[in-house]
Amino acid sequence: MHTKQWTIDDLEHHKEDIAEAAALLQAGELVVFPTETVYGLGADATNEQAVAKIFAAKGRPQDNPLIVHAASKEQLRSLAAYLPDYAEKLIDRFSPGPLTYVLPENGRCARNVTAGLQTVGIRIPDHPAAIALIKAAGLPLAAPSANISGKPSPTAASHAAEDLAGKIAGILDGGPTGVGVESTVIDCTGDLPVILRPGAVTEEMIAETIGQRLASTDALSETEKPKAPGMKYRHYAPEVPLWLVNGKPGQLQELISQQQKQGLRVAVMASSGTLTELHADGQFSLGGNLQETAAHLYDGLRRFEAGDADLIICEAFPETGLGVAIMNRLKKAASKYIEL
Ligand code: TXA
Ligand code: MG
Repeated sequence: MHTKQWTIDDLEHHKEDIAEAAALLQAGELVVFPTETVYGLGADATNEQAVAKIFAAKGRPQDNPLIVHAASKEQLRSLAAYLPDYAEKLIDRFSPGPLTYVLPENGRCARNVTAGLQTVGIRIPDHPAAIALIKAAGLPLAAPSANISGKPSPTAASHAAEDLAGKIAGILDGGPTGVGVESTVIDCTGDLPVILRPGAVTEEMIAETIGQRLASTDALSETEKPKAPGMKYRHYAPEVPLWLVNGKPGQLQELISQQQKQGLRVAVMASSGTLTELHADGQFSLGGNLQETAAHLYDGLRRFEAGDADLIICEAFPETGLGVAIMNRLKKAASKYIEL
């Protein structure tokens, strides 16, 4: 299949491109579009055949539900059976934005969107091209991250093309995404929200908005704990094995040198400050703060291929604020977690 590509820099001058992409979605085809978090692989959320194409193109397990993207608060509400008061507060503060609400579904989306669950995950992306596309299509769009299942999520159109070109109808290129890690997913079916997947909207931000502390997920037993089904799968895996290492720069260097002595070519991913103290066979800077680290993380995970390095050593980050989401993804990408 030929995959059409459009570059959307200035929305005003690309209305025809958006209309063309929207028409493909209305015809039941798949189109990749930018959001503020990562690129999404979109399909008409009300069309079961179109949604089935998402699972086929990604090689996604059938029991992993999709997030539905709405263009407005009204459209978001129209897709749920019921919204608790705290969800309304969160929508007012964080939507559009990187927060996905898991709500009781009302049958408006195709069955395979929710993978048989009674709930549906919905969010309003904070990206002008995404909003324009959803509006032009006049449809809610089911859209997982636009990567092959198991690989890092795409933060550039080129990442999505690497994984999906030839298998889908089109790719809207809106440049690099801003946030870089996927949205926070919260279960809104209980008395208090429960974070199913950490993201840029942090636990502290949610608690402050609703005026209550969140139920601790750790306090719930494994069987009680409501989960995002997708979180159980291996994710974000780079081509080369990755060790996530919590230690001082000197300790990281010792580990790198040790592995090099074993004959391995070692690449390192770390913050810009740490990198200045390290010598390895390849390096990727994760920037100078947690925002920059999130934004560059998946590009880094895609950077080293089998020909370039035998091992990636990645610095661990503090698990506070955005660091919770960064470490959540890195732990899933890593084949080993070492605390020195
Ligand atoms: O930022 C994002 O959320 C991106 C952009 C494209 O919007 N999308 C994204 O989708 O990350 P995906 O499919 O890669 O991840 C969706 C996650 C999965 O872990 C899935 O299991 C969970 O959300 N999820 C979706 N619907 C759910 C539901 N009804 N109940 C529990 N978890 C749900
Ligand atoms: Mg994904």
